Amino acid sequence: MDIEAQKRAAGEAAIEFVEDHAVIGVGTGTTVKYFIDALAIMKHRIDGAVSSSEQSSRLLRAQGIQVLDLNAVGTIGVYVDGADECDRGRHLIKGGGGALTREKIIAAVAKKFVCIVDAHKCVEVLGRFPLPVEVIPMARSYVAREIERRGGTPVWRADCVTDNGNWILDVHGLSITDPEHLESEWNQITGVVTVGLFAHRPADVVLVGDGRRF
Ligand code: A5P
Repeated sequence: MDIEAQKRAAGEAAIEFVEDHAVIGVGTGTTVKYFIDALAIMKHRIDGAVSSSEQSSRLLRAQGIQVLDLNAVGTIGVYVDGADECDRGRHLIKGGGGALTREKIIAAVAKKFVCIVDAHKCVEVLGRFPLPVEVIPMARSYVAREIERRGGTPVWRADCVTDNGNWILDVHGLSITDPEHLESEWNQITGVVTVGLFAHRPADVVLVGDGRRF
């Protein structure tokens, strides 16, 4: 099965977690696009969606799905999103599409976080994919130096401004054997908005495009 077919299979498989009359949390990326396409078929059975990016909001609206403000929604039963890497503990690296902060907020609110990936995203140890870190623009150099002190090699994603008006450092050269510790520690660097490591709030279930789930 090629990667695109796996993305589609994972996106469509997530529909089984969608409950009637619920507000659905919707992530960002090429895998999520397949989920949105599948959600459109049953859009009359849901109350709307909370979206993790302007890009996904546009896709949802184009399919006739109402996009709601998270502040106007009490709870989110299920949140469906992709990932850039996933380990066996369902810890994730996210933010390849730059939407990590809103993704982390929705994941925090959701009762169930369903992650949809193709098999190439599954790894033994996180870190082959550069870890995205969203930073306040004026803190970019300071945060980069602090990350270097901790053994990472940050590269400024110079062509990217996030939906929140911030910048992203992609950190290369990591082998993340203790994701929870790294997430906690890097969150303490002044100027960091969000570390794209979802360890304290991992996925609850991972649907892999080759049919595996864990
Ligand atoms: C967006 O910021 C990311 O967290 C995406 O969820 C992640 O990059 C997966 O995207 P694809 O499904 O396009 O690989």
